[in-house]
Amino acid sequence: MSNIISAQNLTLSYERDEEIIKNVSFFVKKGDFVFITGPSGSGKSTLLKSFYGNIKPQSGNLLIGGLDMNRIKKNKLQELRSHLGIVFQDYKLINEWTVERNVVLPLWIAGYSNEIQKTQAKRLLHHVKLTGKEQKYPLELSGGEQQRVGVARALAKNPFLILADEPTGNLDEYSSNVIWDLLENACQQLDTTVVVVTHKIPSVFNIPYRHFTINEHGAIYEVH
Ligand SMILES: Nc1ncnc2c1ncn2[C@@H]1O[C@H](COP(=O)(O)OP(=O)(O)O)[C@@H](O)[C@H]1O
Ligand SMILES: [Mg+2]
Repeated sequence: MSNIISAQNLTLSYERDEEIIKNVSFFVKKGDFVFITGPSGSGKSTLLKSFYGNIKPQSGNLLIGGLDMNRIKKNKLQELRSHLGIVFQDYKLINEWTVERNVVLPLWIAGYSNEIQKTQAKRLLHHVKLTGKEQKYPLELSGGEQQRVGVARALAKNPFLILADEPTGNLDEYSSNVIWDLLENACQQLDTTVVVVTHKIPSVFNIPYRHFTINEHGAIYEVH
């Protein structure tokens, strides 16, 4: 199974009469790094939501990691999500929790021991260069640092697929480049498949990537 994402004649809509993504077909292979661009409102976030099962196909087929998103049961979907790393534009950290607890949230949910959580928090925070910030709270960090916590959390359970929706949308160029570096790294060194929605592809990007764009009619084209 080398296709991590397989979409065939996929149509997505919130209301029956308004199709957002229309009859699109594409494949994403293991280890691919994919950028998705397109005008605001074209359906980029909607497409990403379908990948983590937040919206079901209206018609057509969608397989994520071999699982049929039309038929997936609630417990299977939960299991699938535990193997995905999701990064949001607004970080979605729990502001009442320390950085350390935020990072290991997926491990806590999975029932790992406190000891493992501690060790992993240390490793992950070192990876995103936030060693020493374990006991800080999200709002005591800069936006760029908060997003690094977001990426560390996404990596916590070695996801096979990372989905990021405008992860650098709120960040300056320097902080954006740190996030791009981390995502490049995940793809190259951990062989994770990465799909990123962005309005701007970084000018410096060091690994090969694919580029899909969605037009205002909900069609998808592969630019390269
Ligand atoms: N929860 C929702 N219910 C109904 N319509 C929605 C919902 N979320 C998004 N939409 C609509 O779907 C279209 C695509 O939205 P979205 O996927 O967020 O676009 P993008 O991420 O490309 O800016 C827009 O017209 C938007 O208004
Ligand atoms: Mg969006």
